[in-house]
Amino acid sequence: MKNMTQKESTIEPFEKIKISPSWAFADKTRKDTAYITHGYHRYPAKFIPQVVSRLVVKYTKEGDLVVDPFGGCGTTLVESKVMCRPSIGVDINPVAVLMTKAKKTPIEPTKVEKQFLKLKEKLKSFSKDTKVNAPEHERIDYWFKQEEKRKLAFLFSEISKIKDQDMRDFFYCGFSNILKNCSIWLQKSNKPTRDFEKKPADPFLVFSRQVKAMLRGNADFFNLLQEKKYLKTSCKVYCADARKIPAKSNSVSLIVTSPPYVTSYEYADLHQLTAFWFEYIKGLSDFRKRFIGTSYHNKKELILNSKIAENIKESLLKKDKKTAEEVATYFSEMNQVFEEMKRMLKKGGRTCIVIGNTSLKGVEILNAEVFVEQLQNLGFKVDDIIKREIPSKNLPSTRDKKNGRFAKITDKKKVFAYPTEYILIMEKI
Ligand SMILES: C[S@@+](CC[C@H](N)C(=O)[O-])C[C@H]1O[C@@H](n2cnc3c(N)ncnc32)[C@H](O)[C@@H]1O
Repeated sequence: MKNMTQKESTIEPFEKIKISPSWAFADKTRKDTAYITHGYHRYPAKFIPQVVSRLVVKYTKEGDLVVDPFGGCGTTLVESKVMCRPSIGVDINPVAVLMTKAKKTPIEPTKVEKQFLKLKEKLKSFSKDTKVNAPEHERIDYWFKQEEKRKLAFLFSEISKIKDQDMRDFFYCGFSNILKNCSIWLQKSNKPTRDFEKKPADPFLVFSRQVKAMLRGNADFFNLLQEKKYLKTSCKVYCADARKIPAKSNSVSLIVTSPPYVTSYEYADLHQLTAFWFEYIKGLSDFRKRFIGTSYHNKKELILNSKIAENIKESLLKKDKKTAEEVATYFSEMNQVFEEMKRMLKKGGRTCIVIGNTSLKGVEILNAEVFVEQLQNLGFKVDDIIKREIPSKNLPSTRDKKNGRFAKITDKKKVFAYPTEYILIMEKI
């Protein structure tokens, strides 16, 4: 949709916008969406690299700075590097930052292969008598059985001895991605549920499989960048808040991001295995409070900066006060993120926000409409609004409400969480 004008802060609902079929990338297989380093680590609600690269090609040229304030596992950074655009990503989740560091850093393939062989040799020396320095934390014992915990502790300490930081991060990332498999976390569940019947996977075996796949991804990434002479493109990631990004004012050409949803994923809970193992956190409750979109925030003076958001809050207040406050807090915090976007962007620079609408307590949560209204009020204009279908194989979430397990895509009774989403392309004027 082009050139939408705002009348008295009222915005036509986006429902009527036609779907743009080419943005579904329906022909892309999992292999395509996980190419180079994109498949290193699972991450809930990550976007597909094809969406990012099309936006980067359209709105920037080589050398232009690209930023992702909700960087997640680093999709925007990896794609920017492939196209020789310097980039900055931030995420409040240290586990996401660990993944991003590994994914954005190509390593000379023979060097990392050699290191892997050395590591595998070390693992052969492990026996039931080997002394290990296993982490002492009740949450670790909550999730891991003794045998796997000992092996993981040994593996972790061997990785920690690797001197080269890039290689250490590469193996740490692999280690992080096998933790769920090696624990009693209910298979395929996105809710932290224990399964006492589960036989956890053997850490050394799955680690080896995991690293082999990562080695292939790294080699593809390295060769691609070397061929294009893009290996030195600057690409920085910080564990920081989206409202305080280490980028100069008026320096950014493009922002590409997919924000968190209100009370959707609890990233703190989902990434607790890595967060505890790496001692990023001591407890869960403080960790949860850092995230936008969680239900743990203090309700302070809220500036919603959107009539639509005010209406949503009013409708929710009639149903459930707590949800109304959570949603209002979310919109207010997102408005602060948009202020930060405005600060960083050059005049004429664009922010591309990938977001879907949801519903809570029977009230439509029109995230897309609210964001556009807030951004317009801050001094942006609509460049384009794209509605895209999320092909079922790429769906961020098809969870069973009761047990949190992923529903099978073939299960017709299940309602997909976000069957379509919008890409809001807003220009700083
Ligand atoms: C939908 S995910 C982004 C996924 C990303 N596009 C990718 O491809 O991996 C939203 C992210 O927002 C992050 N987040 C939540 N609150 C934040 C905050 N206050 N500052 C920065 N990041 C935050 C979450 O940790 C999560 O990684």
